[in-house]
Amino acid sequence: MKTAIRYFSKFGHSKQMAQAIAEVVNEQPQTVATPLTEPTDVLFLGAGIFLGSVNKSVMQFIDTLTAEKIGCVVLFGSSALISEPTKGMREALAKRGVKVYEKVFECKGAMGPLNSGHPDKQDLEALREFVKKIVK
Ligand SMILES: Cc1cc2nc3c(=O)[nH]c(=O)nc-3n(C[C@H](O)[C@H](O)[C@H](O)COP(=O)(O)O)c2cc1C
Repeated sequence: MKTAIRYFSKFGHSKQMAQAIAEVVNEQPQTVATPLTEPTDVLFLGAGIFLGSVNKSVMQFIDTLTAEKIGCVVLFGSSALISEPTKGMREALAKRGVKVYEKVFECKGAMGPLNSGHPDKQDLEALREFVKKIVK
């Protein structure tokens, strides 16, 4: 199974999450600045939320994806206030006809003193378990 990991991370939270995924799938995580060049069975894609949405570069990356190139996208993300940080990515992928895995991994992300320390060790361990169930 060919996997890939892409993320956008302003404060390092999605980067930490991408690294936790990498420990399970043994694939080097890259930012969304790195295009996906090879056909991929499972693409892990994640980002945090800023002023209500993910960074524009995540949407630009999604615009390069095609259903022919990707089996399925598995979304992950964190946020301080909104409850579904991956929702916007799911909608953008659906518009392109790219299949998105039904389950997502979402957790709290620190914003100053709010949710301080998140994603924490337990969040990252829960993410590893989530990924193990997908790729086993
Ligand atoms: C300037 C700023 C704006 C933010 N805006 C939002 C927001 O609108 N909604 C939300 O739920 N979280 C918001 N957050 C929290 C981030 O989504 C959270 O810190 C996330 O974990 C960041 O992930 P990243 O470091 O991978 O980019 C904001 C954080 C900062 C610092």
